[in-house]
Amino acid sequence: MKPIRLLVISGSERQGSYNRSLARVAAGVARRDGAAVTEFDLRALALPIYDGDIEAQGVPAAATQLRDAVLAHDALLVVTPEYNAFPPPLLLNAFDWLSRLRAGEGTVAGLAATANRPVALLAASPGPLGGLRSMNYLRQYLQAAFAMIVVPQQFALGRAGEAFDDAGALKDPKAQHAVEGVLEALGELASALKAAR
Ligand SMILES: Cc1cc2nc3c(=O)[nH]c(=O)nc-3n(C[C@H](O)[C@H](O)[C@H](O)COP(=O)(O)O)c2cc1C
Repeated sequence: MKPIRLLVISGSERQGSYNRSLARVAAGVARRDGAAVTEFDLRALALPIYDGDIEAQGVPAAATQLRDAVLAHDALLVVTPEYNAFPPPLLLNAFDWLSRLRAGEGTVAGLAATANRPVALLAASPGPLGGLRSMNYLRQYLQAAFAMIVVPQQFALGRAGEAFDDAGALKDPKAQHAVEGVLEALGELASALKAAR
């Protein structure tokens, strides 16, 4: 991977989360390959469920932390669970709030922060499909609404309950290779876009 600034986001922060574990593996690969990695904790933002009446009082300040983190990085890696074939509320709610941030003095709109920024997707699930359906909806959401450039390469880790060893590494070399491939593609795109700007 090229030496880019990478923001890693997991759609689950529960103790023992498979997606957090996969995000940690990916962050390790990216660091090893020279990226400056930030592992972002969406749960720590403690954003309320989106509500127009809350917004009328002002978008919660925590949403600006996500926008600023996006702005400070060349690319994002989002690792998503699958809830009923869809991305989870933790992820969607945070990005929905981000989308409501307007430009102010010295600050850019949430959607301006995400526009044309590259992102890659991973997923993990104890099920056989590994969250594949969730990833496909997330791809559409980030492209259509946030104008992000989602790299074609993606990886869904199935049977995630048996996928990690005690040290948190992926047991299957093919899975490790797939994660590395996604990061490689993301790094190539992010550094090409950076060079073109
Ligand atoms: C409301 C809900 C819906 C779920 N739906 C799916 C699903 O559609 N497909 C799937 O593979 N797993 C599904 N699961 C199981 C999750 O994949 C599992 O809880 C997983 O551990 C969540 O990710 P995490 O380990 O990173 O927290 C669902 C779990 C919940 C709580």
